[in-house]
Amino acid sequence: MTDAPIIELRDVHLAFGEKEILAGVTLCLAPRERLVVLGQSGCGKSTLLRLLLGILKPTAGSVQFQGREVPQMRRRQLNAMRQKIGMVYQNSALISSLSVRDNLALPLEELTDKTPAEIDALVDEKLTLVGMADTRDKMPAELSGGMRKRIGLARGIIMDPEVILYDEPSAGLDPVISSVIDQLIIELSEKIGATSVIVTHEMESAFKIATRMAMLFQGRIIAEDTPEGFKKSSDPVVAQFISGDTEGPILQGGK
Ligand SMILES: Nc1ncnc2c1ncn2[C@@H]1O[C@H](COP(=O)(O)OP(=O)(O)O)[C@@H](O)[C@H]1O
Ligand SMILES: [Mg+2]
Repeated sequence: MTDAPIIELRDVHLAFGEKEILAGVTLCLAPRERLVVLGQSGCGKSTLLRLLLGILKPTAGSVQFQGREVPQMRRRQLNAMRQKIGMVYQNSALISSLSVRDNLALPLEELTDKTPAEIDALVDEKLTLVGMADTRDKMPAELSGGMRKRIGLARGIIMDPEVILYDEPSAGLDPVISSVIDQLIIELSEKIGATSVIVTHEMESAFKIATRMAMLFQGRIIAEDTPEGFKKSSDPVVAQFISGDTEGPILQGGK
């Protein structure tokens, strides 16, 4: 890899009280890749994303964004970093009292000095990218789960982020809508040239989306490879996770 990494985690530890969730995570993100981080429910995937956004601080280790230590950033630097990172939440996290247009406009109104007309144009552009242009005046409650998910994607890219973080983007969606979302993630990363981190436990999506994969298990990244490499992995944890087999090391460790 010749490009400097956008995000770099080195030996990151994180504990909630006595419970150590991350126990030495080391992970690099190169520009424009789509890194899928796999792991069981409760293994710390959302926690990892919160660390990248500087919402949580590691107990030990280094979290860098474009060469700068995230935990040491002051409010202003944190805000500047967060403007470069789009976050797509598991539950879409739209504000129910605001229209689709106003949900998307919010970050632009709060963080930029764009005029209402400029904001409208950007909102329309992003809605068109996710195929939802005709929903701009709807309320979130009027939309299906899959549509809300797409709106959540549009909101995640409203600031033209360099990095997009996706938390379980296809969880709870039917297989067809799930494929639509997978396809959108690929398209968005290519159209806007963004670097993506997708955390998921859904293998089918993972293999469709990923340019690289990493597996989080018992607080560490135990495997990192191309999707092809993952498919052929002889690591018993990876093999069990991919196959969904009940026999293997995964349940032994956790239960
Ligand atoms: N703020 C918190 N305080 C205490 N425990 C937490 C907190 N956030 C998450 N956890 C715990 O950390 C573990 C990892 O959570 P999470 O990152 O949400 O997992 P995942 O996203 O992989 O399902 C879980 O056991 C969860 O209960
Ligand atoms: Mg989670």
